[in-house]
Amino acid sequence: MADLQDILYSIYREIQPRIGEGKVADYIPELAKVDPRQFGMAVLTVDGKIYCVGDADVAFSIQSISKVFTLTLALGKIGEGLWKRVGREPSGSAFNSIVQLEHEAGIPRNPFINAGAIAVTDVVMAGHEPREAIGELLRFVRYLADDESVTIDQTIARSETATGFRNFALANFMKSYRNIQHPVDHVLGVYFHQCALSMSCEQLAHAGLFLAARGSNPLTGHSVVSPKRARRINALMLMCGHYDGSGDFAYNVGLPGKSGVGGGILAVAPGIASIAVWSPGLNKVGNSLLGSVALELLAARTGWSIFGD
Ligand code: DON
Repeated sequence: MADLQDILYSIYREIQPRIGEGKVADYIPELAKVDPRQFGMAVLTVDGKIYCVGDADVAFSIQSISKVFTLTLALGKIGEGLWKRVGREPSGSAFNSIVQLEHEAGIPRNPFINAGAIAVTDVVMAGHEPREAIGELLRFVRYLADDESVTIDQTIARSETATGFRNFALANFMKSYRNIQHPVDHVLGVYFHQCALSMSCEQLAHAGLFLAARGSNPLTGHSVVSPKRARRINALMLMCGHYDGSGDFAYNVGLPGKSGVGGGILAVAPGIASIAVWSPGLNKVGNSLLGSVALELLAARTGWSIFGD
């Protein structure tokens, strides 16, 4: 395999003429203002070497990638009991779809679609005021990234609070099935703040490293989850991390990954590296268009697909 930094440069060169492709998320007004002509990528290997290209140090809204961190927290709080509140199956439908919820009596398909993530947030809130739950999550992500400068973008949180009508519908619908325990506006207040976490590819690659390294961050020595739990979170990311694009992502990239409508993707090469990529233009299912292309090229050039090279 060629040098990793050379591989990243080759990907960047190949992507360059396409920068700006895709459509930024516009259902959250603040995200609609983001310049689509940006691309960054960071690869952090389990032995602590980091390789970056493009806008890898520019902070962006991680949006649904935060669902990986709240899932980790919720499993830490109530363990396998979480699976009474949310399923573990791919949804095959859009990230903000409501149709399955009625068929499945208010139990969302998985923790990564919006409904499932909102139920997970409700779990994380137990015993906390909303602001304390937001504080706990922020501290956790800073601990994972080993970086105290990670922040929450309050303007984006406010923008989504003002326009998150579908999420209010999902949460109210689940509450009617008693699958939301706290007041809906409190749960969504926390959920919108978690989605508004602002991180660069470099920070995100650090925060995801525990998933590539059997549950512990080899750089800090922090033990985050057991190897078994890390393996299971990776399994969920592989099956559900890209919504109704999860099959395509597994086919083309072959790595556990989680996307966000801010244009970021966190991907995990187990035992090898944590990878973060960001390009705001999205494909039709709401995943970063060039981020997916870049990860496909990376997997092809490194042979890192979990299904073999
Ligand atoms: O709840 C929402 O709609 C957004 N805060 C997050 C959605 C998202 O990132 C979906 N990812 N591709």
